[in-house]
Amino acid sequence: MAVAQKVDVSHPDASGLTIAPADGPFGAVVRGVDLRRPLDTETAGRIRVALVTRGVVAFPDQKLDDDDLERFSLTFGPFGDDPYIRPIPGRAHIAAIRRRANETAPLFAENWHSDWSFLEISPAFTCLYGIDIPPVGGDTWFANQQMAYDRMPDALRARLEGVVAVHSARGGYAPKGQYGEKDVGRSMDIVSSEDAMSTQRHPLVRAHPETGRRAIFSTHGYIIALENCENGDALLREVVKWQTPEEVVYRHKWRPNMLVIWDNRVVLHRATGGYDGHDRLLHRTTIADRRTDAAR
Ligand code: SIN
Repeated sequence: MAVAQKVDVSHPDASGLTIAPADGPFGAVVRGVDLRRPLDTETAGRIRVALVTRGVVAFPDQKLDDDDLERFSLTFGPFGDDPYIRPIPGRAHIAAIRRRANETAPLFAENWHSDWSFLEISPAFTCLYGIDIPPVGGDTWFANQQMAYDRMPDALRARLEGVVAVHSARGGYAPKGQYGEKDVGRSMDIVSSEDAMSTQRHPLVRAHPETGRRAIFSTHGYIIALENCENGDALLREVVKWQTPEEVVYRHKWRPNMLVIWDNRVVLHRATGGYDGHDRLLHRTTIADRRTDAAR
């Protein structure tokens, strides 16, 4: 059975920084740091440890502009590639996750996923900054895939050894996909493309390059098939059942001026609704991984 990972610091250090557990089985909340300024090496290192061990880190009460968001993101690595969402004007690496109060298009990103897992090098981390946050609903849910893997029976884990997952963006971003030609009335600037038909292979289970902990990487949706195993469709259905039980889910509640960063190698995430009649706007960056599945 997975055990909630401990965060070593819950009291301020000399600089005033506190890193406390989030209200869930994983995740952390950081206070006592001003993200309008560059992070010193010590502080950035401690935040990174919290991020790769706890999976999700929230920074409440940070009044940031897009320069601050970009500088914070670059503390953790270079920007990632972000296909299919046009960046906001004047910024090459910031996407607007937007929904208008009266929007009727299906919710964006409501299915569990790991960001852009269909890329050869998918983002290690994603940052999301809350600008217009509805008074109700709009939580982001996270599911810890290290905990999910640890909870699997040994026999199932053994069957996953060497299994290769085939990823594709086709279900979402191809012209015939969910956000393709038929997707009308959406305020987000999504650009569908035939490029989304391409495929990319990754091991289904990967070791985290910084902690060594093994996790299921991505899920059904971006994963369209399993290879190097018997009866891949049935095996994928079996794996999916273990990926998001409530014991491994943290439901993140947003506040305006809150920044959240998560590790896509540790968690799946999904958007939730429940805020009809209210605008919701967040700015998003991704941070590249350094590897091409070197750690297995
Ligand atoms: C996303 O998956 O990037 C968006 C999550 C959210 O809107 O809560």
